[in-house]
Amino acid sequence: MSTESQIAVHWREEEYIQPPPGFIGQANAADPALLEQFREENFPDSYRAYADLLTWDTYWHTILDTSEPPFWKWFAGGRLNACYNCVDRHLAANRNKAAFLWVPEPETELTRTLTYQELYTQVNEVAALLRDLGLREGDRVTLHLPMVPELPVCMLACARLGVVHSQVFGGFSGTACGDRIADSGSRILITMDGYHRAGKLSDHKAKADEAVVTAAKLGQQVEKVLVWRRYPDRYLSAGDMVEGRDVFVDDLLPRHRGQRVDPVPMPAEAPLFLMYSSGTTGRPKGCQHSTGGYLAYVAGTSKYYQDIHPTDTYWCAADIGWITGHSYIVYGPLALGATSVLYEGVPTHPDAGRCWRIAERLGVNIFHTAPTTIRMLRKLGPDEPARYAYHFKHMTTVGEPIEPEVWRWYHDVVGKGEAVVVDTWWMTETGGFLGATLPALQPMKPGSCGPGVLGIYPVIYDEEGNVVERGSGRAGNVCIRNPWPGVLQTIWGQPDRFVQLYYGRYCRDAKSTDWHDWPFLCGDGAVQAADGYLRILGRIDDVINVAGHRLGTKELESAALTVPEVAEAAAVPVIDELRGRVVEMYVALNPGKEPSQEIEDKVTHAIDQQIGKIARPHAVWIVPDMPKTRSGKIMRRVIAAVSNFADVGDVTTLANPEIVEKIRRQVQSAK
Ligand code: WTA
Repeated sequence: MSTESQIAVHWREEEYIQPPPGFIGQANAADPALLEQFREENFPDSYRAYADLLTWDTYWHTILDTSEPPFWKWFAGGRLNACYNCVDRHLAANRNKAAFLWVPEPETELTRTLTYQELYTQVNEVAALLRDLGLREGDRVTLHLPMVPELPVCMLACARLGVVHSQVFGGFSGTACGDRIADSGSRILITMDGYHRAGKLSDHKAKADEAVVTAAKLGQQVEKVLVWRRYPDRYLSAGDMVEGRDVFVDDLLPRHRGQRVDPVPMPAEAPLFLMYSSGTTGRPKGCQHSTGGYLAYVAGTSKYYQDIHPTDTYWCAADIGWITGHSYIVYGPLALGATSVLYEGVPTHPDAGRCWRIAERLGVNIFHTAPTTIRMLRKLGPDEPARYAYHFKHMTTVGEPIEPEVWRWYHDVVGKGEAVVVDTWWMTETGGFLGATLPALQPMKPGSCGPGVLGIYPVIYDEEGNVVERGSGRAGNVCIRNPWPGVLQTIWGQPDRFVQLYYGRYCRDAKSTDWHDWPFLCGDGAVQAADGYLRILGRIDDVINVAGHRLGTKELESAALTVPEVAEAAAVPVIDELRGRVVEMYVALNPGKEPSQEIEDKVTHAIDQQIGKIARPHAVWIVPDMPKTRSGKIMRRVIAAVSNFADVGDVTTLANPEIVEKIRRQVQSAK
């Protein structure tokens, strides 16, 4: 078992909670026949129901092509355009309905409404601009944008052209962005001058300059940096526009006013976007998602699991820079023609009532957030929800396990007992939900995400590949036995790594074209109850989930190792009441170097610079040496146990067992 699973909090409650009757009556998935339709014997034909939520230019002929395992092809032979499905097809009936409601920071700025018609106009103009810059089907473009409407506009403009977008989370550093530009081979970067977050206006363009330098070092030239100008009168570094390379989008757009670009009918299997995620090595993984399968999957899960109706005002308070935002702020809700709220800033600024004020003002009735936010709001403003007159029918949680007591506060206080709670478990690689309850048909169980969703058949294996029986109480590695339309197609440029990471562990026969032989390794440890409900324990790989953000230990450690005094580094997860986990960095110094505050600060700074402030360690410990195995491997598990005041287990087989006690005294006395 991994460090994460070992320090996972176990709870034993097995309490069922039924959805409110008012919810059941109106639910999209109200008929148990839906569960029948998705029984395993109907797989993969059951997914026709999801494909039929979309408009196809050419209808597909083969629902699942398994000829080249595990590069599954969904809806083979079909052609469609994702932008057309999310925008154009809603115009006839809903031209002037809000597609996005944007709530900027500061709160004194008014909400901006982008109707489907306006979205259509803007997307076409930006698509015309990108086309005139020479972008064509299959080219990649990196976006490094904050939570502004220009972000979905750019994504949809790319999709209209069949260009693959790769949005890098706005809070990532310029260096991290540059790594991703190089990996994806993007010639064009789209960014913004600045943005507000928690009261601070940041100079975002400076990160683009760093990103271009980093990408160039890695062999990728960025030809154009397109800069959206939000603050024309107070642009933070006007002198920094590089002649010939940097262009303000608002200088170019007037040339494209009123232009229309036909949506390109793309093969169902054409990549729609890349979303980078952390993994077991320092090199980020560009998870490649398809056009047809992905869009069908997020439309279907949005409809049945988030219960989105065209009349709902839906708010997923995630960042579009993560997979949750791609699937459940942009593509899923827009494919269904819903109104999706975008907000800028953080839930706790200017105070812990912000979310509920927004909900009240906009009439939000579906709300979606992460346990870390719920914990924070519960701590900072336990009575705030009662002060606002909003009514949620449905609430989602995503990104981490939610403790039953936090779940109850969400249900009772935030939801006022009126809303159903859906705990959605999934990951960047899976495109959409894997485990959750169908809100009107399956009861909730606090702390448990629920069974596999429609068409997903999970199984838990032990290290040897034996099935861990449901209800046995034993933990193991959770896998999905079957392919599904939302699964990543590959890791961009690293097909072998893709096969090895997700299928290498439990593949029964590498020559087989029968999908039954290719269970997909999700990367989490889990326990499955007798009723099929899963309790997720945490990552089994070298990933630390901090406040719902996946951070690779290797990335953190390589950043620390760029500090010249540092000889060795280990990043470990430490349990935190609010954020679930935080990172503590352990470093050992080169001979002759003495521990100092300055070195600790250098380590923190290096991580800020190379990954971003979201990865900043909670503590940096300079220790005399790392506990190691005889073969020289750093024992992160032992360090994590020390940091968490947990049992370190048997350390006698280590090469240097005595160091464990030294570290324990140093760290535990300082905490
Ligand atoms: C964790 C986010 C428990 C899990 C969508 C997974 C969860 C990782 C849940 C993926 C949940 C996500 N309950 N754990 N409901 N949802 N996780 O790629 O460890 O950013 O492997 O995707 O988050 O994080 P990612």
